[in-house]
Amino acid sequence: MTSAPEPPSPVTSITGPTRTGGSGADVFDPEHLLSMRGIAKNFGAVQALRNVDIDIPVGEVTALIGDNGAGKSTLIKAISGIWAPSAGQIFWKGKEVHIHTPRTATDLGIATVYQDLALCDNLDIVQNMYLGMEETRFGLLDEIKMELTTLKTLSDLSVTTVKSVRQLVGSLSGGQRQAVAVARAVMRESEMVILDEPTAALGVSQTAQVLELIRTLAAKGIAVIVISHNLTDVFSVADRLAVMHLGTMVSHGPIANYDTASAVELITTGESSRVPSTLSPAQ
Ligand SMILES: Nc1ncnc2c1ncn2[C@@H]1O[C@H](COP(=O)(O)OP(=O)(O)OP(=O)(O)O)[C@@H](O)[C@H]1O
Ligand SMILES: [Mg+2]
Repeated sequence: MTSAPEPPSPVTSITGPTRTGGSGADVFDPEHLLSMRGIAKNFGAVQALRNVDIDIPVGEVTALIGDNGAGKSTLIKAISGIWAPSAGQIFWKGKEVHIHTPRTATDLGIATVYQDLALCDNLDIVQNMYLGMEETRFGLLDEIKMELTTLKTLSDLSVTTVKSVRQLVGSLSGGQRQAVAVARAVMRESEMVILDEPTAALGVSQTAQVLELIRTLAAKGIAVIVISHNLTDVFSVADRLAVMHLGTMVSHGPIANYDTASAVELITTGESSRVPSTLSPAQ
């Protein structure tokens, strides 16, 4: 019973992601680190997601935009294992995966920094970075190693405003908390980092730092998905745009296909005559 193959997806009109290297080869197209096909999610009578298709490439920043309630957080929660989609398929490196728990997502290499950051205010930065994955040596916590790695990770990300890694996270600013959360994701050698409104609560210079951090992640070859309501931030940081409207993915493609006016049109009406049709899979 348990080894029976999955039933075919109810979404049959859409092909899965293309693969390179011939049939069966374990080679994936870097344009399709993660692919979603026909994803739906219902909460009782609310259809939060309908038939969503998207491809996320490595080393690029994909901005996921849309009005309040468009389904952005619901979509990324399906990627990060908070809940399983009601229908549809998810492919990771060309293979279908079932991400039913956050642990599955972490094991695949997907790290998510949520809208409401899951950091512990009463612990310091090092303790937060290693929560649940503490380094030990001879049965004791290896504080020196954890501290040095934390320092190196923050410095690799050019996070310079934190005074001490032994500072309690509760005493950090919004931008610094965001940086710690991102650093934690990076330290776990994630291949994909998802950020849900990382700059929403930040001032101008802290926002600039977080955007810089996002570009640093992409430059390291990490696939970044960032949700934002701030189109200035989006156009300054993203390589690709994905626009949601009332639970559907209404447009996605390279950022060069869009400008602020067309993005606003897509967010508010779900349509824009100014954007080439971008809804074929793998566009
Ligand atoms: N746990 C839940 N139970 C019931 N409905 C939910 C739940 N989570 C989300 N929804 C509904 O799903 C829809 C999409 O919500 P979602 O949080 O994904 O929107 P969003 O695009 O992230 O919006 P925002 O920009 O405000 O964060 C909304 O109608 C919301 O009310
Ligand atoms: Mg949200």
